[in-house]
Amino acid sequence: MRAGALYVLWRILAPAASTYHPPMANRTDRTPPIVEPFRIKCVEPIRLLPRHQREQRLREADGNLFRLHSRDVLIDLLTDSGTGAMSSAQWASVLEGDESYAGSPSYHRFERAVQDLFGFDQVIPTHQGRAAEHLLFQTLCEPGQIIPNTTHFDTTRANIEDRGAVALDLPHPQSADTCSEHPFKGDMDLVALEQLLEQDAARVPLVMVTITNNGAGGQAVSLDNLRAVRQLADRFGIPFFIDACRFAENAWLLKQRDPSLAERTVREIAREIFSLADGCTMSAKKDGLANIGGFLALRDPELALQLRQRLVITEGFPTYGGMSGRDLEAVAQGLVEVVEEDYLAYRQASIAYVTDSLHERGIPVVRPAGGHAIFLDAGRFLPHVPWQQFPGQALAMEIYLEGGVRSCEIGSLMLGRTDDEGRELPAAHELVRLAIPRRTYTQSHMDYLIHVLERIWDRRTEIRGVQITEAPPVLRHFSARFRREPLAEGVGALD
Ligand code: F0G
Repeated sequence: MRAGALYVLWRILAPAASTYHPPMANRTDRTPPIVEPFRIKCVEPIRLLPRHQREQRLREADGNLFRLHSRDVLIDLLTDSGTGAMSSAQWASVLEGDESYAGSPSYHRFERAVQDLFGFDQVIPTHQGRAAEHLLFQTLCEPGQIIPNTTHFDTTRANIEDRGAVALDLPHPQSADTCSEHPFKGDMDLVALEQLLEQDAARVPLVMVTITNNGAGGQAVSLDNLRAVRQLADRFGIPFFIDACRFAENAWLLKQRDPSLAERTVREIAREIFSLADGCTMSAKKDGLANIGGFLALRDPELALQLRQRLVITEGFPTYGGMSGRDLEAVAQGLVEVVEEDYLAYRQASIAYVTDSLHERGIPVVRPAGGHAIFLDAGRFLPHVPWQQFPGQALAMEIYLEGGVRSCEIGSLMLGRTDDEGRELPAAHELVRLAIPRRTYTQSHMDYLIHVLERIWDRRTEIRGVQITEAPPVLRHFSARFRREPLAEGVGALD
């Protein structure tokens, strides 16, 4: 029986056997509140500007939340990347950082931490994930080739397209339905992958899978699916790489949702995941629990040699790449802490708590809860706003105006495409991502977030779409400028 079906059976027959922190549906008055498995040693003040100042700041930013000063944001959920809090052990390790140009012991600690957890011998440090992608695609990919992935992250896509190649998304059809409770909506569409390889294997230099699938709602990729991708890659003799940014969250979700993994540790599950791949790209700004850093790790020593030659030109000497000794130390320690199960249980419970609370109130969210973020379905939240007026962006702007919370559109603004005749095409979904930085906000911040969203939901019909007034040709969401579509009745805050 496949893991998906097993999961359903298991949740029906043996809920008590699960260590899963119960989501809302299973919560009762007697369910203990979620407790952060850490206490706070250092605080950073945040403030809520008065409403009229929030309106002014958003107007000055031309409606683009990337243009806001972060000090004008109360709760910053723009990204979970590099925004987490480091532990006291990580800060202590920072002082151990050895900044030698070559042969630093900090590199060796970092290398060992990656080898232990990922099982790849060759470890190439980079300043962040996209630098690892850049090295990989510049080295392995030729113009005109095709790189299939579940859903390419925007920098991965940009790096592939920059090479003149095609970044092809093959998400599993089950991810198309944002309401479905399927436990592994991050999976690859194996039928489409097989068809592609049968027709065009010679044009595919590598297959990639992103765990968790950020573009599809931080959804888990199952072990069965990864095994099947490995088999297909073997059949056609093509390398298989994992985009590993959120590997620990993926491993935790598998432990919760795949009964055959319930008794395994997250570390063991991660080892098993990576045993299936030839290598991975990693942004240590996510599941490295660090503020900067990344790496490429792989088995093939000859390919590693080529990558290191390019590394010296673009990033740095192979024992530091794009990182300082202190960053290498922080990531090495972060990789130890990120697979601690108390931490992962709390993180997932907190994200599921918000997702399930919103769902219970009828607010449309991507189901089930993902690993790093709450995804609002802005298409269903604002059905009166057509995709050409970017409902996700309109909603993200409103969330800032209502509560000083910064979020990010993941819809036709970020992922929209133009066809061969230059016509704009919509993204598959109009989403707003509320990405939760690691170990940074408390449960009261989460309750405040629910409160803000409820208030917006109550007056959703008043929210207008937006129009782009200015945008660059590539990665336009970072710097585009917007104005509100007028409502028949009159003029609003941004006009
Ligand atoms: N791959 C995935 C799946 C990502 O989510 C990201 C970054 C990257 C690669 C690139 O890593 O930022 O270190 O260069 N995602 C961030 C986000 C920016 O907000 O989701 P990077």
